[in-house]
Amino acid sequence: MYDFFFQAHSGLRFVVFFALIIAIILAFVGWFGKKPFGKANKTLNLVTLISTHIQVVLGLVLYFISPLVTGSTMGEAMKDSTLRYWKVEHLAMMLVAAVLITIGNAKSKRIADLTAKHRPVAIYFSLALLIIVVAILQSGRRLLGVSH
Ligand code: HEM
Repeated sequence: MYDFFFQAHSGLRFVVFFALIIAIILAFVGWFGKKPFGKANKTLNLVTLISTHIQVVLGLVLYFISPLVTGSTMGEAMKDSTLRYWKVEHLAMMLVAAVLITIGNAKSKRIADLTAKHRPVAIYFSLALLIIVVAILQSGRRLLGVSH
């Protein structure tokens, strides 16, 4: 079961990355090019939102079964940078990223002006991407590679 959730969580990261990066590019092109928010923007924002939420659910399951998290108490984990990363930092940073994606999408939906709708997506999704990249680099694992 651990293997299944690990592979699923590790693999879905590529979908999150891909959707997020394309959504950001389209949002900036729309924002600065003053293009109306269209079906492609809506679809990509939705794919980004859904894949990120599924990633959080898979991560939450992993959190309770990964030996890296369950193998130590909170006190022990705090003294070891790798254990602390998986017990506290990964969870916290990724949840912040997921919340930013959710807020960006919600704010965009509330804006009626078709060109202004791009702005919250461009800003909030970019911040989320930055946090996700920093979090994965901080883990010591490869940004684009499955580790086991
Ligand atoms: C946008 C959200 C997230 C992304 C992009 C993400 C990405 C990743 C990546 C790339 C790995 C390493 C996979 C590998 O080495 O092949 C990983 C591992 C892990 N993630 Fe996440 N994650 C996210 C959210 C979460 C959340 C919210 C939690 C916990 C509640 C979580 C828990 C874990 C755990 C426990 C591992 C380590 C598994 C192990 O090596 O045993 N993740 N995650």
